[in-house]
Order: sequence, then structure tokens, then C-alpha cells
Amino acid sequence: MSASAQMTRVRAIQWARQSIDRLDARLLLQFASECSANALIADPDVVLEEAQWTRFQSLVQRRAGGEPLAYLVGEAGFYGALLAVTPDVLVPRPETEELVDWALDVLRDQPAPTIADLGTGSGAIALTLARARPDARVMAVDVSSAALSVAQLNQQRLGCANVALIHASWYDGWQAADGLDLIISNPPYIPADDPHLSGDGVRFEPRLALTDEADGLDAYRAIAAGAVARLKPGGWLLVEHGHDQGAAVASLWLQAGLVDVRGRLDLSGNPRMTGGQKPARSA
Ligand SMILES: C[S@@+](CC[C@H](N)C(=O)[O-])C[C@H]1O[C@@H](n2cnc3c(N)ncnc32)[C@H](O)[C@@H]1O
Repeated sequence: MSASAQMTRVRAIQWARQSIDRLDARLLLQFASECSANALIADPDVVLEEAQWTRFQSLVQRRAGGEPLAYLVGEAGFYGALLAVTPDVLVPRPETEELVDWALDVLRDQPAPTIADLGTGSGAIALTLARARPDARVMAVDVSSAALSVAQLNQQRLGCANVALIHASWYDGWQAADGLDLIISNPPYIPADDPHLSGDGVRFEPRLALTDEADGLDAYRAIAAGAVARLKPGGWLLVEHGHDQGAAVASLWLQAGLVDVRGRLDLSGNPRMTGGQKPARSA
């Protein structure tokens, strides 16, 4: 009898719990054995097939080594949708959902808004806004063609016809004919010498998504410098940033000529977002 002949679902979870947490163990077993959460609870004594047990062991070892769960199962939840993710894109974070909430607030009274998501990665922000606002036109920009392929897959899955994927560095080589109502971005902002870059999970994510290889503010400088020329009067620039970067980002927004510059706290109370508006009548 092979080892797997004895390996029930419940025993497999117990084995995995020696190295990873319970929720991850359950999700990986569901993925490896193609069973639902309900089936796992209802039938814990089902014996795994040999291939399922082998696959599960490999996934658990990779998770124990720090690989993000989302890369192992190939998807992540964001704002109520399941997005495909691969190691070519950042795993979308819950804090970024709060940036989307802010964007939906500022666009509430704006019919048919034109939006640019700079550094779209998996398309998390662009596609969520496009779904919430079917009247919007959304430009999803990324310098990484590998990331754009993932965003394209998500666009197809979610059926967002109102999103254009653009391969570019920030504003280079494209424009929105009548200007933008919103520029939104969660750019790479970790300073090159920050030890978090080699931390659990993060070290498996694309370096281009994480750091500017400088002080962490280069993307904000580039995004701020081009914003006023591209925003419509009254249009908004909203970004996510590190908890200690709010003052520096606000100062860049003011230098760029934006007004009503303000920070916003995330649900944990950390200052993680800054926004500003192009004056309604620019000089
Ligand atoms: C922190 S990730 C954010 C991904 C996604 N928006 C999210 O919130 O999950 C930053 C993204 O910016 C992209 N990026 C880095 N440098 C860029 C540049 N110069 N122009 C456009 N995109 C860039 C990276 O490829 C990456 O996809």
C-alpha cells in the first residue's frame, strides 16, 4: 500500500499544520485535491489519491518556504472578485481596496469619468473601477509586459470592455484626448535598502513592483510631475504609499500645483494614501 492510501484529508491537514497555518493548509488541500471547502468539512476521512498527496506536499513545502499563497493557487481575492495572479505581478493587498473606495468617492458625481491606473500590475485597481463604473473609460498602464499579460487575462475573465491596457512607463507615449478625471496609482515605493524587500512573501514578488531602486519616492516624483498637464480642472491624483511617506508625497503634490492635498488613513489607522486635486481653474 502506498503512503497516500492511508492519507485522509484530516490527516493531511494535521501533517501540514506542523509547518504552515490552518487556513493556508485547508486552502492548499482544496486546491491540490480539487475539493470544495464544504466537502473538506463534510468528508474529512476521504483518502487522497497518490497524485493529490504528492501535489499537496509540494505546495505545503513551498508555502513553508515563504511563497505567497496566491502564487501557489494562482489567484487572489480583490474587492469581491477573484483575480489571476502569477509571480509577474504584485499580490493585490486589502489596503489597496481602500484606495479604490476613495477613488469611487471622488468620482461619485462625475459622469463617464476618464481614469488612468499607473502601474496596474494584475489590473486590480483598473478592473475594479471599471466594474464599479461601467460608464468610465479606464487606461491601465504598466511598464512590465509580463504584468500586462496577467491584467489582460483578468480583463477577459471579468469582461471589462471599458479598459485599455497600455505598455508604457508612466505617461510616456500615450494620452487621453480630453484629459483625465482621475490618476490613481499604487507604485513601487519601498526604498532599495529596506530590509522588507527580502522579507517573507515579498521576496517572491517582482522587484519592479516593489522598489524604485532608490529612496522609494521616484515614482511619486514622476507621477506628480506629469499630473497637472494631464488632469482635467478639478481632476484628482490619488496614490497609495508607505506609512512614513505621507509628508514627502504631500509635498510633491503641492510642488506640482495640486490643491486640497490630504492624506487618508487605512483601516489599521496608518497614513497610507495621499490625494490632491488640480485647481478647478488652473492659472
Ligand atoms: C506595487 S505594484 C502595484 C500593482 C497593482 N496596481 C496593485 O495595486 O496591486 C506597482 C506596479 O508598477 C509597475 N511599474 C513599475 N515601474 C513602472 C513604470 N516606470 N511605469 C509604469 N509602471 C511601472 C510594476 O510593474 C508594478 O506592476
